[in-house]
Amino acid sequence: MRHVTRLLLLLNLHLLSLAAATAQRELPTRLRLNWLENGRSVLVRLDVPLLPLWNQEDQIGEDLPSALIFNFTLSHDKRTLLVNDNAILPFENAYVPPRLYAYQTSKSTDDFKNDPLPDYKNSPQFSLDYSRIVPQAEDGSLKYSNYTPTLDLDILGAGIEEYNTFLPSDNQRFIRITLHQLEPPSTPFSSLSFKIADISLEQRDPDSQFKGPDGLKPCTLWSWLCADKPKYPWYQYIYRENFDEYGKIGSMRRFIHFKWATMIDAYGIVQITVLGAGFGIVVLSLMGYGIYRLWKRAQVLWQRRPRARDIDAWTADEEIGGLLDDIEEEDEDDGYPFDC
Ligand SMILES: *[C@@H]1O[C@H](CO)[C@@H](O)[C@H](O)[C@H]1NC(C)=O
Repeated sequence: MRHVTRLLLLLNLHLLSLAAATAQRELPTRLRLNWLENGRSVLVRLDVPLLPLWNQEDQIGEDLPSALIFNFTLSHDKRTLLVNDNAILPFENAYVPPRLYAYQTSKSTDDFKNDPLPDYKNSPQFSLDYSRIVPQAEDGSLKYSNYTPTLDLDILGAGIEEYNTFLPSDNQRFIRITLHQLEPPSTPFSSLSFKIADISLEQRDPDSQFKGPDGLKPCTLWSWLCADKPKYPWYQYIYRENFDEYGKIGSMRRFIHFKWATMIDAYGIVQITVLGAGFGIVVLSLMGYGIYRLWKRAQVLWQRRPRARDIDAWTADEEIGGLLDDIEEEDEDDGYPFDC
């Protein structure tokens, strides 16, 4: 009897842990979407477990649950997806990904659903580090019969005032947003426009480790872009500390753009242009002179090129020359050869 109880107990424990495991591996959260405008503009609330609730008066983080609010809106021509006013799909300039920000809210999910709007713009505004993945190619060089791009946006860190933190919690979700093209299939990529078709909050992959800025490849001048992936748009991990207005800090491309910009700052665009033009003229004239010299040399070589007939002619010349020499020699001997 005792054994049986024990067995039941064990079985129970086992079942309990099973239940816990399934609870942990939850399904993606389908959102009841807070549309601002159907298919074009929507508000999303994302729980951020490790982010303290910012007290704006005391400039201090309080240990209370909080969330970030994202306003996903398609531009007026419906070709660009914006998140809180920044182009995120496609990027405006992939070399310099935008600095994203989001407002913080202490509202629970239900409160937010019932009333998302009341001036959340007075709330604390955080700057964000993020990972951005678009599984379908997005450079438009490929042909699609039907283009339904998906954007995965994972918030990796946040900062406000002097406060900064990374957000590696397994319990934090990432936002997946799917667009559908409005035009019929096989419309050329360049004239596509979209509607927001679906948004869900997905579980982070528990097996893949959180990648902080230290986990990325070091960035040196040996690399043009210091890209995360070989193809457009090159960057997936956008940490604020790794980018400035010129590009990825440490990369050769950013170095050149930075130098160029500081040069223009120091001397002014007119001076740089004049200087550049002057330099260009010198280089071009040198090159021109070089080409002229080469051409001349080639011409000489061409004229001197040996040909069978010429070689015969030369030997004939030499024979005549030899005769002349003989005559001259005779001349010297006789003094006045042609007078006699
Ligand atoms: C959402 O974003 C769009 C575009 O950036 C903006 O025009 C709109 O006012 C925003 N709506 C709210 C409620 O913040």
